[in-house]
Amino acid sequence: MKAIPIRTRLTAWYFLILAAALIGFTLFALRVMQKSIYTAVDEQLEDRARDLQALIAQSPSGGNVAREVREHAELQPGSQLFQVSDGAGLFLYRSPLMQRLGVPVASTDRQQFADAQYGDLPIRILTAPATAGSHNFVVQVAEPMDDFVEAIDRFRSALWFGIPVLLVAAAGGGYWLSAFALRPVDRMTSVAQTITPRDLSRRVSVPQTGDELQRLGETLNKMLQRIESAILRITQFTADASHELRTPVALIRTRAEVTLAKPRTNDQYREALSEVLFESERTSALIENLMLLGRADAGTETLDFQKTDVSELARAVSAQAQTLAEAKELKWNAAVPESPVWVRGDPQALRRLLLILIDNAVKYTPENGSISLALETYDNQVAIRVEDTGIGIPAADLPHIFERFYRADKVRSREVGGTGLGLSIGRWIASAHGGEIKVESSTAGSAFIFRLPLVS
Ligand SMILES: Nc1ncnc2c1ncn2[C@@H]1O[C@H](COP(=O)(O)OP(=O)(O)OP(=O)(O)O)[C@@H](O)[C@H]1O
Ligand SMILES: [Mg+2]
Repeated sequence: MKAIPIRTRLTAWYFLILAAALIGFTLFALRVMQKSIYTAVDEQLEDRARDLQALIAQSPSGGNVAREVREHAELQPGSQLFQVSDGAGLFLYRSPLMQRLGVPVASTDRQQFADAQYGDLPIRILTAPATAGSHNFVVQVAEPMDDFVEAIDRFRSALWFGIPVLLVAAAGGGYWLSAFALRPVDRMTSVAQTITPRDLSRRVSVPQTGDELQRLGETLNKMLQRIESAILRITQFTADASHELRTPVALIRTRAEVTLAKPRTNDQYREALSEVLFESERTSALIENLMLLGRADAGTETLDFQKTDVSELARAVSAQAQTLAEAKELKWNAAVPESPVWVRGDPQALRRLLLILIDNAVKYTPENGSISLALETYDNQVAIRVEDTGIGIPAADLPHIFERFYRADKVRSREVGGTGLGLSIGRWIASAHGGEIKVESSTAGSAFIFRLPLVS
């Protein structure tokens, strides 16, 4: 089914609702008009009947009723439509017009209204009983209704002709208004259609109307902003990753080519192969890190959360770290309490995070420096502090060290074997645990503090 444009639908609904309202109103107005005319006429007829009943009641014997009524008729030239008959059905008086119309005699014992048509003339008749002493009479008073009927007819036809004209005009106006109101949507649509992944810098034009459309425009633009920066990050990441991978692969290849260029001794082969092995291991680690970050981005890296004693974990890491530090002639201090400190976390991931911080401390601290690991708890939190007396991080680099592939001192970092992924993985692990990592650094060294909520 072909979709109906929103403005056509809006107009159609508007038309239908307005048509129903106008028809309803017309019927109601006609009814009210008719009712008020009839009420006024009926009151007048009742007045006139009452006058005649009073007149008739004045002659107790009933003998001179006919004369009284005739005199009454002569005195009141306006009330030409009435007739009076006696109990036997004989007319005592008939006004000339009544006679001409030929309104028949009636008998009744209670007052009643009737509508009748005589020739072209519609009339409303009130028939009522009257008494003089013990004699019964019937009074019939009538009112010509031609003027009223005509007025109602005119009113009705004016409405029936007026409504369609009004409806067409209102629907046209409604269509124009909705088209006008929806024009910003058309503009947004046409801009949105031109936005491609290659050209994400464009933004839809936002109408400054303070309404839903402005909010829609702003929301679209914020969404574009997020998509743009996400795509930018991915592009940058891909470029950096390929660059990082090219270097070790080139090294391996060159080493192999040079070695194979001429015959070598066993020792030379051995040396070349161990160099190739070293680079391959580094590359594998890099690829593994890249895949981990990729899974973290996609949200498919699952952590195995369980109740974990970080105090025990820190002591285990400390033993490993001590060997690393002492191999580089660095002093190692650990201040980890013996009592258990419980958190909810993935022990493997937490161990990895501590090792990332310790690895950096060892890497970026020259010989004879010292490194310390301390664990403290306060305010339902545990803080693990890895501190070194190393080269420190320049203030300008501090905001960036958690970014992927970012290295403060590119040449030195490369020499010590870094790829710039350690801290970005560390930060991901921390935030996946609902924790955070802070860094303090000066030329005298750096301190990384990892905070994590305790479980009660
Ligand atoms: N303890 C530290 N002292 C001095 N600089 C540090 C320290 N820790 C990190 N940095 C700086 O922050 C940068 C980013 O650290 P990160 O651990 O992310 O990468 P990396 O150590 O270079 O490489 P990787 O950890 O992937 O092997 C480092 O290159 C280094 O310049
Ligand atoms: Mg590192």
